[in-house]
Amino acid sequence: MLEHLKSQPADKILALMAAYKADPRTDKIDLGVGVYKDASGNTPVMRAVKEAERRMVAEQSTKAYTGLAGDPAFGAAMRDLVLADSVAADRVAAVATPGGTGAIRQALELIRMAAPDATVWLSNPTWPNHPSIIKYLGMKMAEYTYFDNATRGVDFAGMMADLDGLAPGDVVLLHGCCHNPTGANLTSDQMAEVIALMQKKGAVPLIDIAYQGFGDGLDADAQITRQIVRGFDNSLIAASCSKNFGIYRERTGILMAVARDADEQALAQQNLAFLNRQNYSFPPDHGARVVTTILTDPALRADWEAELEDTRNGMLALRQQLADELRRLTNSDRFDFIAAHRGMFSRLGTTPEMVEKLRADHGIYMVSDSRLNIAGLNAQTVPILARAIVQAGI
Ligand code: LMR
Repeated sequence: MLEHLKSQPADKILALMAAYKADPRTDKIDLGVGVYKDASGNTPVMRAVKEAERRMVAEQSTKAYTGLAGDPAFGAAMRDLVLADSVAADRVAAVATPGGTGAIRQALELIRMAAPDATVWLSNPTWPNHPSIIKYLGMKMAEYTYFDNATRGVDFAGMMADLDGLAPGDVVLLHGCCHNPTGANLTSDQMAEVIALMQKKGAVPLIDIAYQGFGDGLDADAQITRQIVRGFDNSLIAASCSKNFGIYRERTGILMAVARDADEQALAQQNLAFLNRQNYSFPPDHGARVVTTILTDPALRADWEAELEDTRNGMLALRQQLADELRRLTNSDRFDFIAAHRGMFSRLGTTPEMVEKLRADHGIYMVSDSRLNIAGLNAQTVPILARAIVQAGI
């Protein structure tokens, strides 16, 4: 049986992680996978997470199953964090999922059950696992223009022109904040135009929000998501806790389905629970419980928010330092976009050959589409990267 398997294409982000690990150079710099690193290159456990885990070890009295949708308190806390009061609570169905990827996967399966002929529209570019999962599920997929390689901003006219091809019932996958891989984001006014076009076409939004708190702040980063949700009877939101709580390996995420009314919500909730049961039964609980503990305890929450703010400001400072350094070295404002981008990533907008040259000559690892992880830098490595970019002639 197993001999009939075909070999699968490697995920380019995970392949890069392995290549970096295998590189013997001691001065190598990892700007690949989207994992936060502090100035010493460590991915710390956040203080509030440590404390919530300590309490859990001391107080938890059972490891019996939760519900198929996970702990309802987690659903309520995450609904509040992401959606706030943008939608009535009785319209939101929610299931805990293994990470943001699990939420995306469940969202796509729900779409396939409800609207098997719908085309899912993805930004070009997007996180590579989006098209990979859609293809695996055998769903229809289309792309909309997103990135302008010349300005390194959003090609908004191109995006609107492509979305004009939406058919009723099609699904548009939008990044809630901190677009991965480009770092270029829509303004609220631009999103209002996208929403109006989608409403006119009868399209449904699927929002992937994996970096809330890494761009302009916890609340600011959720505004676009809330704006979208207000505009539709139905929307799907896949949220990840991997990055903003730093609990990557705990696989903590949530899928929320906003329904037209409470009856439709009950139907969606039942289908989401069914999907969890088919795929993995009960979702992981540890990370979700940590998140719930933090979000519902005012002191822990304040400490988490403060540490997240430090993380965010650290990334903004690195962005500014890199843009300044490149401005100095090139005597031009060509790289100012790095300071304007938001989140963990910026796309340099150069060729895979140039990316390979940076790896071969300088041990600098970034994804072949020239996405770099700002959090992989520190004050000492920023000038090294800037010099390498200039030397390579990017
Ligand atoms: C990334 O884009 O690097 C992260 O979301 C990690 C991943 O799973 O790809």
